[in-house]
Amino acid sequence: MKKVFSLIATAALTASMLVGCSSGSTATATAATSTAAAAASTAATTATNSDLADKKVGVCIYQFSDNFMTLFRNELKSYLVSQGFTESNIEIVDGANDQATQTNQIQNFITEGVDVMIVNPVNSSSAATITDMVTEAGIPLVYINREPDADEESRWKTDNMSVCYVGADAKQSGTFQGEIIADLGLDAIDMNKNGKIDYVMIEGDPENIDAQYRTEYSVKALTDAGFEVNCLDDQVGNWQQEQAATLVANSLTQYGNDVEVVFCNNDAMALGALQSITSAGRTVGKDIYLVGVDALSDALEDVIAGTMTGTVFNDHIAQSHSAADAAINFVEGKTNDYYIGCDYVKVTKDNAQSVLDSVK
Ligand code: GAL
Repeated sequence: MKKVFSLIATAALTASMLVGCSSGSTATATAATSTAAAAASTAATTATNSDLADKKVGVCIYQFSDNFMTLFRNELKSYLVSQGFTESNIEIVDGANDQATQTNQIQNFITEGVDVMIVNPVNSSSAATITDMVTEAGIPLVYINREPDADEESRWKTDNMSVCYVGADAKQSGTFQGEIIADLGLDAIDMNKNGKIDYVMIEGDPENIDAQYRTEYSVKALTDAGFEVNCLDDQVGNWQQEQAATLVANSLTQYGNDVEVVFCNNDAMALGALQSITSAGRTVGKDIYLVGVDALSDALEDVIAGTMTGTVFNDHIAQSHSAADAAINFVEGKTNDYYIGCDYVKVTKDNAQSVLDSVK
């Protein structure tokens, strides 16, 4: 469990970093206010609440084998315990990437009479059905990581539902990826000298808003910076390292030295891409560039070593704590803002060590 110290350490990173979650319709808090608020709110809630000891929380994760969601759920559990929940009253279940399985699990939590649910939907498009099931049973609901669409979110307010979403704005992570590449300058990137940035895109699962926005906004950051781009290949790796390794190996075989940049929607896939880049005899930072998202420890080590160009910190600590805080508010009969947004942090060689220290 990363205690208050972790957030304070994270807050002490560079002034350009945005950390923490903020209520409201967007996550635009400034560095100073959001870091201070994050540290203060964590400090304020460090004391455990004995009233929570007999409360039950049901947590649905879309798939346990997902690296990022594993960090998230472990941190969520530790934090819930630190806040006063009893370990045996926290039930976390694996949706195995199957909505029917998850819907059954939600039904079981309703039958068990949990006091609050935290749900990472398998399909965000099933959110309306999930919301109806859970709220009709009188149970408050906190969505995490996979954001329901705008129509769904707006009815929580219109119908005065005890439902909210805690997560980060995927557009920001895509923009940061594109900026990391743009900052290298065309001379460094355009090794085949065709005047364009030739890239391969490896996407997460296609239904997922994070995958859609990261794909769109990483490229948009390049065109916004005035670069011409050329998409050589765009493939779906479903957030998985092995799938990405195969896809990138194929792209490198097909397009060879024309591949200048590999964008991966997450770090697990970037780690797979790196395996294939290395096997193909290519060198990141020298004849190819590679970016991911999440700031998994392995990826941070690669950024420090120069074997990954950069990543974007998807703050599982701030997100899981904010989700737990929102669940506690509901259990205590309080309300939450409907959207609680967390900031991403751009990570390059300059700050990778500080981010690694803050998540250890
Ligand atoms: C993203 C994360 C991915 C994957 C996905 C699951 O935010 O970057 O690695 O965990 O969520 O929905």
